[in-house]
Parts: sequence; structure tokens; C-alpha cells
Amino acid sequence: MNPVTHFSVPLWTLLFFSALLKVVPTQTIDTECNGTEILSTSQMTQITTMTTTFSLFLNISNCTLYIGNPVNGTTTDLIPGAVYPVYLNCTNCSKQLSSLTKNPATVTGLNITEITTSSLSLSWTKPVGNSSFYKVQWTDDIVSGSLNVSATSTTITNLTAGVRYYINVSAVADDKVTEGQPSSVFQYTKPAVVVNLTVSITASSVFLSWTQPVGNTLFYTVQSTDGSLNMNLNTTQTYVNITGLTPGGQYTFTVRAVAGDQETIGEANAVSLYTKPAVVVNLTVTEFTTSSVFLNWTQPVGNFFSIKSSGLMQV
Ligand SMILES: *[C@@H]1O[C@H](CO)[C@@H](O)[C@H](O)[C@H]1NC(C)=O
Ligand SMILES: *[C@@H]1O[C@H](CO)[C@@H](O)[C@H](O)[C@H]1NC(C)=O
Ligand SMILES: *[C@@H]1O[C@H](CO)[C@@H](O)[C@H](O)[C@H]1NC(C)=O
Ligand SMILES: *[C@@H]1O[C@H](CO)[C@@H](O)[C@H](O)[C@H]1NC(C)=O
Ligand SMILES: *[C@@H]1O[C@H](CO)[C@@H](O)[C@H](O)[C@H]1NC(C)=O
Ligand SMILES: *[C@@H]1O[C@H](CO)[C@@H](O)[C@H](O)[C@H]1NC(C)=O
Ligand SMILES: *[C@@H]1O[C@H](CO)[C@@H](O)[C@H](O)[C@H]1NC(C)=O
Ligand SMILES: *[C@@H]1O[C@H](CO)[C@@H](O)[C@H](O)[C@H]1NC(C)=O
Ligand SMILES: *[C@@H]1O[C@H](CO)[C@@H](O)[C@H](O)[C@H]1NC(C)=O
Ligand SMILES: *[C@@H]1O[C@H](CO)[C@@H](O)[C@H](O)[C@H]1NC(C)=O
Ligand SMILES: *[C@@H]1O[C@H](CO)[C@@H](O)[C@H](O)[C@H]1NC(C)=O
Ligand SMILES: *[C@@H]1O[C@H](CO)[C@@H](O)[C@H](O)[C@H]1NC(C)=O
Repeated sequence: MNPVTHFSVPLWTLLFFSALLKVVPTQTIDTECNGTEILSTSQMTQITTMTTTFSLFLNISNCTLYIGNPVNGTTTDLIPGAVYPVYLNCTNCSKQLSSLTKNPATVTGLNITEITTSSLSLSWTKPVGNSSFYKVQWTDDIVSGSLNVSATSTTITNLTAGVRYYINVSAVADDKVTEGQPSSVFQYTKPAVVVNLTVSITASSVFLSWTQPVGNTLFYTVQSTDGSLNMNLNTTQTYVNITGLTPGGQYTFTVRAVAGDQETIGEANAVSLYTKPAVVVNLTVTEFTTSSVFLNWTQPVGNFFSIKSSGLMQV
């Protein structure tokens, strides 16, 4: 009677893990392949490991290792994400040693498709090989979330405005457990709209102030336009005094919050207004009769529409 060598599963597990493959061990081999001369697991040597292929040499007489197809020193193309039973089929017995799952390939083309103050939409391309679903994970380093999706796009909701989120997407194999290498992307959500925009107007300056919106903001970008000339300035304060304006001029000011990447910009809060007209200067009474006064003044700089008299005129 041939000696029976106990064929231990942990060695197999090590062997396959080193090949970036996941092995789910079943029972030990010696319960069914009794009587078969199996000298030792060291007779099985891993030769090469690549992303989608690997080779094994089997040095056991009258036995063949099967991973889908017979494997012995020949390179076998394994489909990423697929599950393979591993059999040791000998002349007089056979045994399933384990099942082997090739890691799914990495998803490609991960892309942010829509950014709002509370959500990020993303899409990606199905990787080569098999996958049962995708695992989408995100974190802002404080709050984390995870989502399993079967489509190649999703929307992550309930996020905070102006915050940077790291997002990982990985394919999950047919065993619904083994994950591929994740594809990563980070993106800021849109900052919220600044609130309580108030203005204080003089002839040549406009003082704008506002309240910081909920969420995060790196700075504010303020734009002013009189219809032809645009000006832009950035401030980390929640106010700005814009000077050098034309008295009586029509201006539109917009204030937007900017996120930490200096690129993701919130929706505008805008105000349109006229600066105050300049004061009439050098007003003199040049003629005075019983029925009329003749007023002489210098035209103020800037724009104006009417001359309004004030005070009591008695004739
Ligand atoms: C295999 O051998 C073990 C111990 O040598 C024994 O307990 C078991 O019953 C045997 N199994 C079969 C199917 O012969
Ligand atoms: C496996 O390949 C090795 C090296 O080519 C050879 O020595 C061995 O006999 C083969 N084993 C089987 C079961 O064919
Ligand atoms: C196969 O195993 C036998 C017995 O242990 C050994 O003599 C021989 O060198 C081994 N062959 C290979 C290719 O490892
Ligand atoms: C392999 O099988 C052949 C034919 O069945 C047999 O003669 C031989 O003894 C077997 N070898 C071992 C090591 O069991
Ligand atoms: C190996 O053995 C299993 C049963 O243990 C059997 O289902 C399978 O078909 C065998 N493979 C080959 C190629 O004979
Ligand atoms: C990412 O999405 C944007 C918007 O849908 C699109 O314009 C761009 O081409 C996409 N890039 C890639 C690499 O898919
Ligand atoms: C949104 O997130 C907050 C905490 O960040 C959590 O308390 C709340 O339940 C979430 N709401 C939904 C609809 O997921
Ligand atoms: C806006 O201003 C009003 C009055 O000053 C205040 O009650 C309110 O809380 C402010 N809103 C925000 C969002 O700060
Ligand atoms: C803004 O600047 C103008 C011109 O320097 C000045 O007259 C005005 O008082 C300033 N407004 C505020 C609120 O500081
Ligand atoms: C203000 O910030 C925006 C967004 O980063 C940038 O596009 C713009 O050039 C900046 N303007 C100035 C004057 O620095
Ligand atoms: C007011 O009149 C004086 C004398 O004519 C002149 O020098 C001055 O420039 C005038 N001021 C303005 C604002 O026009
Ligand atoms: C009004 O003032 C200007 C500049 O001071 C002067 O040239 C002009 O003659 C004055 N007109 C009359 C009617 O006095």
C-alpha cells in the first residue's frame, strides 16, 4: 500500500495568493484521494505570474492539475473576474482542492460627469473579463460611504458642498467577493451659493458683504460689470469694497464661492444696481429776477438722468 501524504490546504492558499489569485479552500485532499501517492506540495512549483496568466508545474505521477484546463508548465489564460474550480485528477481518484478566482481587471475611463453641491455623478468603462457588480467607495476623510452598482455609472448623493471626495471604483468578480484594483478619482462638490448678499452704495464705490454658505469655501470670486468692462477679484473675506466706479453707472456684481481646487465654483448670487450720481458742483445763481432764477453748475462726472430741484422756491 502506498503511503498517503497529507496535502495541506494552507500551502495551496499561499501559492495562489502569491499569484494575485484568490483561493477559497475546500476540504483537505487526503479524504478522497486515499491511496494515491502524492509526495509533497513542494513538487508543485509556481513558475510565472502575470496579470492574466500564470503557470504551475506539477510533479506528481499519474495526476494532473486542472484549473479549468490541465495546467502543467503551460501558461493558461485566466479570465479576470472568473471563478475556476481547481481539481487534482489522478488515475484512481480526483479531488477539488479549491476554487480559484482571478482578480477582476481595473475599471478604466473613470470620469466625473456631473457636480452639484450635494452630489457627484460618475461613469466608467467595464473592464475586460468578468464582473458581477462594481463597488463604489468614497470618503472626505471624515465621512465615508460605499455603494454596490451593476451599471457602469452612478450618482453619489447626500454630500457636503465644497468638500473634496476621494472616490474608488473597483470591479467585483463572479464570486461577488474578490475585488480588482480600484480606479481612483477625487473631486470637490460645488460650493453652495453665498447668502445674504447686501450692498452699500456711494457714487464711486459699492461695498458688498455676504454670509459664508454651508460647507467649505476656499475663497470668493467677485465679478463686476457695467455691460462692457468686466472686473474680477478674489477675496477670502466675506466682504469687498469696490471703488473707482462711475457715479450713476449701472453695475452688476456677482459673488461665487470657490472650492479648494480653485476650479470648482458655486452658483452666482448677483445684484444689479446704479451707483449714486455725483453731486452737482459749482452751483451758482447767475441771474435772479422776480419770476426766474438762472442756475449754473458744472456737469458732474458720470451718468445722470434728471436734475431734481429741492428746497422751497418762492417767486
Ligand atoms: C482516507 O484515509 C483516512 C485516514 O488514512 C481515513 O480516515 C478515511 O476513511 C479514508 N477515506 C476513504 C474514502 O477511504
Ligand atoms: C509536468 O511538467 C514537468 C516539467 O515539464 C514534468 O517533469 C512532469 O512530469 C509533468 N507532470 C505531469 C503530471 O505531466
Ligand atoms: C519530481 O519529484 C521527484 C521526486 O521527489 C524528483 O526526484 C524530481 O527531481 C522532481 N522533478 C522536478 C522537475 O521537480
Ligand atoms: C501510474 O499509473 C501507471 C498505470 O496505471 C502505473 O503502472 C504506475 O505504477 C502509476 N504510478 C504511480 C506512482 O502510482
Ligand atoms: C477531474 O475530476 C472532477 C471530479 O472530481 C471531474 O468533474 C472533472 O471532469 C475531472 N477533470 C477531468 C479533465 O477529467
Ligand atoms: C468625461 O466626461 C465629460 C463630460 O461628460 C466628457 O466631456 C469627457 O470626454 C469624458 N472624458 C472621458 C475620458 O471619458
Ligand atoms: C446624509 O448624511 C448624514 C450624515 O452625513 C446622515 O445623517 C443622513 O442620514 C444621510 N441622509 C441620507 C438620506 O442618506
Ligand atoms: C441672513 O441675515 C438674516 C438677518 O441678518 C439672518 O437672520 C439670517 O440668519 C441670515 N442667514 C444666513 C444664512 O446667515
Ligand atoms: C469704500 O471705499 C470708499 C473709497 O475709498 C470709501 O469712501 C468708503 O467709505 C468705503 N466703504 C466702506 C464700507 O469701507
Ligand atoms: C480668481 O479665481 C478664479 C478661480 O480660481 C480665477 O479663475 C481667476 O483668475 C482669479 N482672479 C484673479 C484676479 O486672481
Ligand atoms: C468749480 O469752479 C472752479 C472755478 O471756475 C474750477 O476751477 C473748478 O474746477 C470747478 N470744479 C469742478 C468740479 O468742476
Ligand atoms: C456758467 O459757468 C461757466 C463756468 O464757470 C461760465 O463759463 C459761464 O459763462 C457761466 N454761465 C453764465 C450764464 O453765467
